[in-house]
Amino acid sequence: MRIDIISAVPQLLESPFSHSILKRAQDKGLLQIQIHNLRDYTPYSHKQIDDYPYGGGAGMVLMPEPLARAIESLKAQRTYDEIIFLTPDGEPFTQAVANRLSLKQALMLICGHYKGIDERIREHFVTMELSIGDYVISGGELAAAVVTDAVARLIPGVLNDETSALSDSFQDQLLSPPVYTRPADFRGWKVPEILLSGDHEKIARWRYEKALERTRQRRPQLLSHSEDPEKTA
Ligand code: ADE
Repeated sequence: MRIDIISAVPQLLESPFSHSILKRAQDKGLLQIQIHNLRDYTPYSHKQIDDYPYGGGAGMVLMPEPLARAIESLKAQRTYDEIIFLTPDGEPFTQAVANRLSLKQALMLICGHYKGIDERIREHFVTMELSIGDYVISGGELAAAVVTDAVARLIPGVLNDETSALSDSFQDQLLSPPVYTRPADFRGWKVPEILLSGDHEKIARWRYEKALERTRQRRPQLLSHSEDPEKTA
């Protein structure tokens, strides 16, 4: 999979893709991430990319010309399955959306900044708008990193043990059960006996029950959607 990210502050994206699972995915050739500095595409002096909003009001808006040039330059090089704008008023980003995106070949992510981007870019270039939650962060970069990470780890071969993404929270509309490692007795706090029993069938049942219990307690609305995973998308 190829992911191109357009950003006004590309430095914010230097670290998230350079370590651990995402780095290994790139080293293995399963994932290519390219970050593009929006300022490299501006025709304006002083590398200007933003301006005051028409009609007044606080904050700056990313101008359409640099964004259009960046998007068109990338589109000239390959076909994108989706051109995604990260924005708090987008569709909620869920595991179901991550699953869908992980099947794509090429994604373009556009990071907003300040008060947002000129609406005409959203109307004429963007094919999908995603929000990572009902809160506002300073720019789309951290949201782009979240989406990239959640999608990339689902690409076959990215995780060593392919079943581990399947047992993630949300994959089956359930939160994950608790996990334990050595020592079996830590300060007198003991690991549940069943996990030491070696009986895999019983352990699987225990984990399922714990996942169900945790979901019922913490996120009961996930259970009411469990017949149709798309409902939580
Ligand atoms: N940009 C600012 N806040 C955001 C959010 N919650 N999701 C996606 N992009 C954002």
